[in-house]
Amino acid sequence: MRKILVTSALPYANGSIHLGHLVEYLQTDIWVRNQKMSQNQCFYICADDAHGTPIMLKAKELQMTPEELISKTQKEHMEDFKDFHIEFDNYYTTHSDENRELSELIYEQLKENGNIESREIEQFYDEQENMFLPDRYIKGTCPKCKADDQYGDACEICGATYLSTDLLNPKSVVSNSKPVTRKTEHFFFKLSEYETFLKDWLKDSRVQNEIKNKMDEWLKDGLASWDITRDKPYFGFQIPNEKDKYFYVWLDAPVGYIASFKNLCDKKSIDFMEFWKKDSDTELYHFIGKDIAYFHVLFWPAMLEGSKFRTPSSVFCHGFLTIDGEKMSKSRGTFFNARTYLKHLDPEYLRYYFASRLTDKIEDIDLNFDDFVARVNSDLVGKIVNIGSRCAKFINGSYDSRLCSESYNKQLITEILESKNLIVENYENRNFSKNIRLISSLADDINKYIDNEKPWKMIKDKENKDKVHKVCSDGINMFRLLIGYLKPVIPNIALKVEKVLQCDCINWSNLDSILTSHQMGEFKPVIGRIEKDSIELMKNEAKGEIND
Ligand code: 2FM
Ligand code: ZN
Repeated sequence: MRKILVTSALPYANGSIHLGHLVEYLQTDIWVRNQKMSQNQCFYICADDAHGTPIMLKAKELQMTPEELISKTQKEHMEDFKDFHIEFDNYYTTHSDENRELSELIYEQLKENGNIESREIEQFYDEQENMFLPDRYIKGTCPKCKADDQYGDACEICGATYLSTDLLNPKSVVSNSKPVTRKTEHFFFKLSEYETFLKDWLKDSRVQNEIKNKMDEWLKDGLASWDITRDKPYFGFQIPNEKDKYFYVWLDAPVGYIASFKNLCDKKSIDFMEFWKKDSDTELYHFIGKDIAYFHVLFWPAMLEGSKFRTPSSVFCHGFLTIDGEKMSKSRGTFFNARTYLKHLDPEYLRYYFASRLTDKIEDIDLNFDDFVARVNSDLVGKIVNIGSRCAKFINGSYDSRLCSESYNKQLITEILESKNLIVENYENRNFSKNIRLISSLADDINKYIDNEKPWKMIKDKENKDKVHKVCSDGINMFRLLIGYLKPVIPNIALKVEKVLQCDCINWSNLDSILTSHQMGEFKPVIGRIEKDSIELMKNEAKGEIND
């Protein structure tokens, strides 16, 4: 049995979960469910990312304490995840005692190794708000193309990157006043001391080629030291033995993975060190978006190595979500919050659709609404689920809901079962779209078999009663196999099917047992078609949320 720890990126505690986030949580959840169906010990860990300037300022704007804001947001996030059938083994917050202790421990260890240096830097300071300004909180005129209203790190018009102090006419986004520059002492993590380690880690970690190439580039350019300090006022953890200095949120955020797991271990008496000790033979995987690869394949493995923890087995990157081919956009009304979706559509539709688009590549994935409706209505409902309802009608109606004593079309059943190993492997390798295609073509074969046998015609002649029983029992068994194959993707439909069939909870080892002389229940619809109206209603609601 493999022992596996899996994480998704921790969402910030100042905003709602949206469909873009869900690409990652659904991808991870499907991956984890596949592991659990293989009866591996697999823990899916996550938490809210609760620290940083944006959260501090948002709380202020809402006239709340940051603690109130993050606890309200955490509740909302957990509801959204639950309603999308995303099943974490633990969902915590980075604003926890466990995380404080672990962040301090890691920092102290890096300091002891001599990996931390201190330097005086010059930064913009807002004298009205008495705070240093992160780059995103300064706007001004681009020094290159002279476009107005550009952020302090990069120009959205000409793409130039620069130092915030190079901006012309800088203004504080917080108070609108003209910032001054001030000196402050910051602590830096000397990443370059981990160059050799990172090169070795890269060889062993099976990261995707695109990431490997990026890492090669970064390593070639030389690894700059990383500023891990923020000055007060800041919502985060104070740096031990320093006055008014805090850890930058990106230092304690990934430590939140360990802390959330620690919290689970304490509740469930799991051996924490077995998973985190150096050279642990358990596995550790991080699912992330392509924008935060730098943190996860450079800083994070180096921090872990330096503080004598195990390092990640791999980091799996995915692309962004586009809607009908374009970036999600609030003004175009294509920015959908998880909750808005849930008010109009079944979560399993989106799980199925995302699975049909997800691969192991870092390409962006597109939610095209026409395609979404077509895939769900004709493939999932019309083709796959329909096998169950068309056969159950006869089994329920004419055979007291009891299946035949043996299978009839053994050849087709064997053919379907022969796909199992490939399906498990495709899930493992994050090639979900291949599985959806494969399962859909198996459904075609099954439908063809039933269409050829025509039970609805045969039943009219008493002599055929046995044959209809056989064909429809086959159909029910084949339906169970397909639903088993799709179980990581559509867990709720699978659960309903298990109930209707009155069969054991399906996993990869019991899937092969064909139900014979088995008493099933009354078939009830497990999922309906998407009504075209629901999409329009959701779009209208999203448009109404623009000003939120
Ligand atoms: O980019 C983000 O949304 C971050 N909150 C992700 C943090 S992941 C981990 F490192 F904590
Ligand atoms: Zn510019």
